[in-house]
Amino acid sequence: MNTSHSQETPTGEAPGHVPLRLASATQTLPPSATLSMNEAVAKRRAAGRETIHLGFGEAAFPLHPLLKTALAEAATHTSYAPVLGIPALRQAIAAYLARKRGLTCSADHIAVGPGSKPLLYALLHILEGDVLLPVPSWVSYAPMARLAGRRVIGVQTEPHDHHRLTPQALAQAMTRARKDGANPRILLVNTPSNPTGSMFDRADVEALACWAREAEVTLISDEIYAELAHGWREHISPARFYPEGCIFTGGLSKAFSAGGWRLGYAVLPPTMAGKEVMQALRALASEIWSTTATPLQEAALAAFTPHATIEQYVHRSALVHGYVAGQLYTALTRLGVPCPRPAGGFYLYPDFSPWRSALQERGIRTSQELAHYLLEEWDIAALPGSVFDEEPTALRLRFSTSLLCEPDRATSVDEREAALWSLLDQAETLQLTGKKRRLSLPALERAQARLTEMIQELDRPGTSHVQ
Ligand SMILES: Cc1ncc(COP(=O)(O)O)c(C=O)c1O
Repeated sequence: MNTSHSQETPTGEAPGHVPLRLASATQTLPPSATLSMNEAVAKRRAAGRETIHLGFGEAAFPLHPLLKTALAEAATHTSYAPVLGIPALRQAIAAYLARKRGLTCSADHIAVGPGSKPLLYALLHILEGDVLLPVPSWVSYAPMARLAGRRVIGVQTEPHDHHRLTPQALAQAMTRARKDGANPRILLVNTPSNPTGSMFDRADVEALACWAREAEVTLISDEIYAELAHGWREHISPARFYPEGCIFTGGLSKAFSAGGWRLGYAVLPPTMAGKEVMQALRALASEIWSTTATPLQEAALAAFTPHATIEQYVHRSALVHGYVAGQLYTALTRLGVPCPRPAGGFYLYPDFSPWRSALQERGIRTSQELAHYLLEEWDIAALPGSVFDEEPTALRLRFSTSLLCEPDRATSVDEREAALWSLLDQAETLQLTGKKRRLSLPALERAQARLTEMIQELDRPGTSHVQ
């Protein structure tokens, strides 16, 4: 008779025996802060708590009809596609980058993957060396680098300089890292930036590229928001100035409002070394994700093939994101909240340190506590600067403005989509009339009003306000 059952714990495990153990790298790995916040907001809303959602960056315009049709037509294509992507899509992306960004690359230098995020993670596994990351940086870079067994070296940026990444700061970080025994060989940057909304200008890009070349560092440039420049600053890839040492990534998630489609690409240098990295990427991808979903690759072909209405859709999305981010930025600066002017994407990075004393009187000393205060006292969901690797006591938050376009009264998917299409239809008049034209966006107005109330409350006599 088998007696082992009688010795099992109520959960079915034998005493003293733990059948599942976590590897040390994942024992302390929390879920991505952005995805967790989105789930927390969904729970609050389901429980009837109205929440102003500035906590999740999702481009949520309706899908362009040509992409919808292309996906429907490809639905029956159930075979595995080539690991690095279908040739027609890789060619279309190369032509798109030449047309839109003046970059010369061929299909052979392009890898398609299930989102740019796994491609970035794969690259961090493949390339040699430790990783230099600007502070603040997107939430996933540091965990990805650490999971790939790399040391992360933060490169300090200054809020009063709009978090610009300078060669001086890079050189200092490099010297410090080498003293500590690290071997930084990769610099990962993001323009337009999540979390700051800033973009490198031409001089910044040239200086960065020049520094990376001299330091013999591979520059990975995450350009997922490139199409969403708001119009006052041109997106320039460092690949223009450092083609032999720059890898850049992009995809459908932001410009085409198709994050859930999970389709991204990476562009590698047109060199022998680039070819070797491509072979390693192919090998790694073949062992992990095999291929990107075939129907999605075929549908993505429509996104990257020249088509006037698709180009208009992307342009209009950028204008509306720029309008919404710009309106909230104006409201914040009127309230005296320091914040870099947004240039692309849909993020703001306000600094609440002028209210440090007033916040301290409420027991708030860290950005984490500040984010908690906004959520619990003001029903505003935002992310603390600490998840972007900032010092815990830096009182900065990341506001995502993309969901402020959401219509208030839509009672069906069709109504919601109609409201968002109407918003896109008004985008060009916004551009023509500048700030004179106003869109009616209830979620944006609520966010502005709530933040005004909050700052007024912090300013009230009895609470000190240090500038
Ligand atoms: C800076 C940055 N890079 C990459 C991604 C992910 O892109 P993808 O959907 O292509 O994986 C995001 C999404 O939030 C992002 O903000």
